[in-house]
Amino acid sequence: MRETMRLVLDPAADVIWSSAGAIVTEDGIEDLAPTTEEGWLRVAHAAAVVAESGNLLMMPTQAVDREDWTEISRGLVRAGVRARDAAEARDADALFEAGGRLYNVCVSCHQQYWVNRPVRPGEA
Ligand code: HEC
Repeated sequence: MRETMRLVLDPAADVIWSSAGAIVTEDGIEDLAPTTEEGWLRVAHAAAVVAESGNLLMMPTQAVDREDWTEISRGLVRAGVRARDAAEARDADALFEAGGRLYNVCVSCHQQYWVNRPVRPGEA
């Protein structure tokens, strides 16, 4: 589980989050959306990895229980597919929206199933 999170899911989610929205820098507002074909392909690939991770988490050997776990994992697949669709459509707004949903899926599973998780600022 930790390996899946650390080596597969977390890096893939980071690619999506770092390609969505905008950040404010000293020089003004920087749009994070990919500007090149490779950039969008990289996001589409990462999103496919996220969706596959959701499928992986649903496997009986990974699932912690059969109730909310499976439902949340399905949500992870859906969020990954949305992000991939957004990347394939080169749609920065849809990608930002998919990134927000993705974040909520991570948090909802962690709140319920990650015992002793470190509490991050902004999270309940
Ligand atoms: C279906 C449940 C579930 C979903 C969805 C989920 N996680 Fe996790 N995650 C866990 C559990 C359970 C742990 C605690 C594993 C342990 O320590 O045994 C964990 C731990 C982690 C860790 C710490 C790993 C370590 O080194 O100890 C990271 C990083 C992480 N998750 C990232 C993510 C990200 C990013 C997402 C969303 C893109 C996500 N997770 C979605 C269940 C989930």
